[in-house]
Order: sequence, then structure tokens, then C-alpha cells
Amino acid sequence: MVNAAVVHGAGQDIEVTAIELPDLGPHDVRVKVAAAGVCHSDLSMTNGTFTPAFPLVLGHEAAGTIAAVGSDVTGLEVGDRVVVNWAPACRRCWFCLNSQPWLCTAVEGNVSPVRGTIGGDPLHVTLGVGAFAEEIVLPTDAVVPLAPGVPLDVAALLGCAVVTGVGAVRNTAAVRPGESVVVIGLGGVGLSALLGAHLAGAGPIIAVDISPDKEELARTAGATHFLVSHDKLAKEIRGLTDGRGADHALECVGHSATIRTAWQSTRRGGRVTVVGVGRRDDTVSFNALELYHFARTIGVSVYGSGDPNRDIPLLATQIELGRLDLEPLVSHRIGLDGVTEAFERMKSGTGARSLLVFDS
Ligand code: APR
Ligand code: ZN
Repeated sequence: MVNAAVVHGAGQDIEVTAIELPDLGPHDVRVKVAAAGVCHSDLSMTNGTFTPAFPLVLGHEAAGTIAAVGSDVTGLEVGDRVVVNWAPACRRCWFCLNSQPWLCTAVEGNVSPVRGTIGGDPLHVTLGVGAFAEEIVLPTDAVVPLAPGVPLDVAALLGCAVVTGVGAVRNTAAVRPGESVVVIGLGGVGLSALLGAHLAGAGPIIAVDISPDKEELARTAGATHFLVSHDKLAKEIRGLTDGRGADHALECVGHSATIRTAWQSTRRGGRVTVVGVGRRDDTVSFNALELYHFARTIGVSVYGSGDPNRDIPLLATQIELGRLDLEPLVSHRIGLDGVTEAFERMKSGTGARSLLVFDS
């Protein structure tokens, strides 16, 4: 039995309660969770954006140490430090074989599989992880070994926000040195996109949020400019980009309105990258003439549209070299009983990532 943050239905309160982990299969590992980030996608599990099965353990962004390995596991030992990859690619489906492991068929339906029990009943876990628990059981290919120079707590963020935000800049948008970048929405994902834009040598890097409180966080993460979202935002952005609009805009909120803002922020021929995950009933519209006239490209980044097995170690190396600092992404350190308040902060756009830290 371990303690976990569980939700029993959409819109219901989060309960910290004891759960039973599943038996360890031959290819599984048990991970003692050191830290887990609270991501907007966890909130999306409970607010109707996604439709998972319940009861559900929340959390999918985590790092920890291996506590046990299944009988057929090779290459991992008890005590090894790992980051969780919530989208382990099967390496066999059409998408994997065609170099798009982020679209792996095996991952597509993995919203809330059963992994353990609660009071004897089946228990579901968020994105195959359920990281808001003292320990978790995962297939071996869902963990990525962590380099020694990276602190285990902030390493959790490599498992979702950072691989997503930096990956959107590098893999999807393919930002080049000297290009102008607008990032809209400065939660863990948007702040990571700013870090990615800075690493890519972009400039100006224009950060946008509805909350004026995000300015300091944005500038620490590499923004050269900070703007509060308003009706004339596109004009203000043109003013910072020689009258043209930005080469790139990354939408890191998940709303139709901010996708439109991203669209209007870019120059003719520019590139919009949608990173946020929105609701089924929130429709974005473009008129036929503007699509032609502005000749912009719209791309979508899924979990950074890369390969976490490659990208997490690459990012860890940047941290070891002192070129990437994740500490500014963490505004609150909480325990299991702090997830509800972390969700409230997210709803009001307060702070950056809340990091659930377990006692070692
Ligand atoms: N304009 C600008 N910024 C906005 C707006 C808006 N209209 N609405 C919300 N925001 C800002 C919030 O103030 C907050 O700073 O967007 C940010 C969202 O941050 P988080 O809630 O922490 O979300 P995060 O975990 O970063 O995820 C962002 O990416 O992976 C997806 O599902 C995830 O859709 C979500 C998105
Ligand atoms: Zn996430």
C-alpha cells in the first residue's frame, strides 16, 4: 500500500488515500517517486477537457529511483535514478517506423489504463503513470536513466513540461538563431518554450500572458520582452518585429482565442505552433482569404514531437553543462495534500510549476 492523490469522478475533490500497486511484471520496474510536477494536463483530467476512467491517480511528470525490477529487466538496477516518459513508443507501429514516435499508436489510447487497485477495485492512472503516488509501477521502457549532475527533484520537469516546451521550439517549430519568437501562456510548458527559444539563439523572445505577475518568471526564463495579453497585442508585436510580426508564435494555453492570438502575432509566411491541448467544443476559425493571404503554417507539437529517450538525456546534458536551469520553473514545493491548491493556482494563472516532493 502507498499513499496517492486520487479523484473519483470529473469535478470531484482530490483525496489523498492508500492504494494497492499492481504486481511487478517481468518487464516492469517499481519507482520510488522523488518528485512530480503538477501539469495542466492533470487538471484537464478532472475538468472535462479529457474523459479518463475513474477512480484515477493524477500525475504524469515525475522522477525517482528504481525500487524493484521485474525478472526480465536488463540495464536497470535498484537505486538507479530515472525520469518517467509517459509516452513510451512501441518502436513497431507505422508511426514509429516512420520516425514519428510521438504519434505511436500504442500511446494514443493510453489516457487512463488500469494499474493497481483501490479497496480491491480497479484503479486507473493518468497517462499510464499516476505520478502523485509514493511509488509507481511502470513498463521498463517508460523510464529514462538520469545523468548524475541533474538534481532528482527538478528532473521531474524533464518528463513533461521541458521536453514539451523545448521540443516544440526545436523539433516542431525548428527555430533558428536570430528568429523572432512569441510564446503565449507562461505555465510550466510556456516557460520551457522560452528556455528552448533562448537555447536556440532566438531573438527577440516575446513572452505573453494574461497575468502581469508572470513578467519576472518570463524574463528569468529568457524572454527579452513581456506583454500582457490585450486586444491590440498583434500590433504591439509588429512594433517589436520591424512591422512584420514574429517568425514564430507558440501557443501554450490550449484555447481557440490564444490560437487566434498566435496566428495574428506572426508575420506573413510565419509559423504558428500549437502546444496547448484544448477542448473538443472550443472551435477555432480562419477565413479562406486570410489563410491564403498570410501564407502562415500551423503546426502542432505533441509531447515535444521528438523522442523522449533521445531528448531527455540531451536536455540533462545541457543542465550538467550549466546551459539550462530548471529551478526558475518551480514556484512551489508541495506534499500530496497540496495538489488541490496547486490546481487553484493554475486556474488563476498564479506562479509557475508546483512540484510535489516526497520525503527521501
Ligand atoms: N492569454 C495568455 N495567457 C493565458 C490565457 C490567455 N487568454 N489564458 C491563460 N493563460 C496563461 C495562464 O495565466 C498560465 O500562465 O496560460 C498559462 C497556462 O499555464 P498552466 O495552467 O500552468 O499550463 P501548462 O502546464 O503550462 O500547460 C499548458 O500545454 O500540455 C498542454 O494541457 C496543457 O493545454 C495545456 C498547455
Ligand atoms: Zn504534462
